[in-house]
Amino acid sequence: MKHKIAPSLLAADFLNLQKEVEMINNSEADWLHMDIMDGVFVPNISFGFPVLEAVKPILKKPMDVHLMIVEPQKFVKEVAAAGAYMMNVHYEASTHLHRTIGAIKEAGMKAGVTLNPHTPISLLEDIIQDLDMVLLMSVNPGYGGQRFIEHSVNKTARLKEMIREKGLETLIEVDGGVNLETGKRLVDAGADVLVAGSFVFSSPDPIRTIKELKDM
Ligand code: DX5
Ligand code: ZN
Repeated sequence: MKHKIAPSLLAADFLNLQKEVEMINNSEADWLHMDIMDGVFVPNISFGFPVLEAVKPILKKPMDVHLMIVEPQKFVKEVAAAGAYMMNVHYEASTHLHRTIGAIKEAGMKAGVTLNPHTPISLLEDIIQDLDMVLLMSVNPGYGGQRFIEHSVNKTARLKEMIREKGLETLIEVDGGVNLETGKRLVDAGADVLVAGSFVFSSPDPIRTIKELKDM
């Protein structure tokens, strides 16, 4: 299966959100990645549900919501109502992860679990069979435009192996510092979905950059 591209709205021009979403609609992007931060789980605040709600009626692609917040289980209903296709919660923010995954699916969404760079994939051993996707952070969450953490390529390959060994179809998404060079290596290692923020939105021709990420 060809890999998917999910541009991250965090790097978009917030004064021209409608134009940016239309660009995504007209591009080969597969999903739109939305980063919600609370200033507690991560040292930054991005945007919340009102922005998702505003984007929902004009967006023609599935919405991939990445919650960088404490107690993400409290917001399953809100994320579903905002039109999310995939809800990603951080492993590090989830005490009762199995219950949260169940609630996400019951609300009609796909369930993803996100791992910080330091969190080992071995911790997924007893939950991965219930997940639609694992989101590997290849930067420390909180900001766009950071430098790619090299170890993520090896981590992606090992996670792919774990998924294969178990005979699962869990997707692997990687987020942070993705460009044509790091992206290619991640896809070769087994990544199914690449998130790209600054590389797409700071490009002079984002539609073409998305196509290049898709074609590599
Ligand atoms: C970081 C976010 C990312 C971010 C990626 O905390 O989760 O989705 O937008 O940005 P780039 O692609 O610029 O590293
Ligand atoms: Zn993200």
